[in-house]
Amino acid sequence: MNKKMSIRLFKPSFDKEEIRSIKKVFKSPWLGYGEKVKEFEKKFSKYIGSNSVVGLNSCTAALHLSVAVNNFKKKKKVLLPAMTFSATAASVLYEGLEPIFVDINRENLSINFDDLRKKYTKDCVAIIAVHFGGHACEMDKIINWAKKKKLIVIEDCAHTLGGYFKGKKLGTWGDFGCFSFEDKKIISTGDGGILCTNDKKKYKILQSISFHGWSKDPWKRHIQSKQNKHWYYQVENLGYKYNMNNLTASIAISQLQKIKLFNKKRIEIIKIYMDKLKKLENFNFAIDYKLKNSCYWLFILKTKKRDKFINFLKLNGISSTVHLMPLNYHPLYKKYKGKTPIADKTWKELVSLPLFIDLSNKQINYIVKKIRQFDKNYHKY
Ligand SMILES: Cc1ncc(COP(=O)(O)O)c(C=O)c1O
Repeated sequence: MNKKMSIRLFKPSFDKEEIRSIKKVFKSPWLGYGEKVKEFEKKFSKYIGSNSVVGLNSCTAALHLSVAVNNFKKKKKVLLPAMTFSATAASVLYEGLEPIFVDINRENLSINFDDLRKKYTKDCVAIIAVHFGGHACEMDKIINWAKKKKLIVIEDCAHTLGGYFKGKKLGTWGDFGCFSFEDKKIISTGDGGILCTNDKKKYKILQSISFHGWSKDPWKRHIQSKQNKHWYYQVENLGYKYNMNNLTASIAISQLQKIKLFNKKRIEIIKIYMDKLKKLENFNFAIDYKLKNSCYWLFILKTKKRDKFINFLKLNGISSTVHLMPLNYHPLYKKYKGKTPIADKTWKELVSLPLFIDLSNKQINYIVKKIRQFDKNYHKY
């Protein structure tokens, strides 16, 4: 086997379709917010099954707007898993609210429903459910309970796109669904994101606050240019510059066309990993993968010698990383630490392996061979 192999952890998958698509935008030339964004929003809306979607520059923007549009009273509390990416909690702090860290499930790293109920207080106004690694949270239980408590439910779908829970697409269970098209994600536009909701009233505001709080977006002003005073708009809300642009949207359209294939390939790769690694002595799968109708972003192993294993992979040209250190370990979030024993213990053993569409069988076999080698000689490390 080739010792000089160098395998990335993630890699976006593009072909001439994306190049052709982006070239057209350059020829138009209308690079900013415009027709392509509208086209992508329409296609995404159909794909995900949500009436109203807003194309954005990131999932961080989607999360922030989902919180902001509700105008919660300052200092109210939002329940979210302790083990998530910082943007999930930042969206809460941006609005002067406080995160309450909820523990995770040992068997799938997603938010623990019993602890969610335990951590609830009367000051809670929302839940952010993160489908960690692509594993669906128990959305039926969460939604039913949240309704009784009058809590807004935001789904952080940064790690999934096209996965289902009990026959319903992730991102359409809650009041808001937030997706990421960042460089390493399921589909990639370099950076990008989208927000979906079925709340028509809030959708109007979301459209406005994603573009400076204007009453009319710049594309609408352009297409109305034959009308009198086409240029007129009013600043109705305190908005942000969070919009998607035509370049990003053109890549997103091409990527979305391939999503079925992408998700099929991801399942195939995970199946191979699981099959070839199931008999290891010193490793476990960190997630109880439910592959039917799924979209997983991460393949994660658990091992007690996590850091030594990561170094061993590095020496052998294989990238790996840790998803994720619980937020309370970061200085900014330290003061929000609650009782989350499973997150505190579990993250220390997590190692994410390479997972991307163009990962070849040869590469997978090499990764597996090296993991087996480490497992066999575990006592030496
Ligand atoms: C769980 C989670 N939420 C939100 C984000 C933010 O996504 P973006 O980079 O598109 O803002 C990420 C990014 O990795 C993430 O992992």
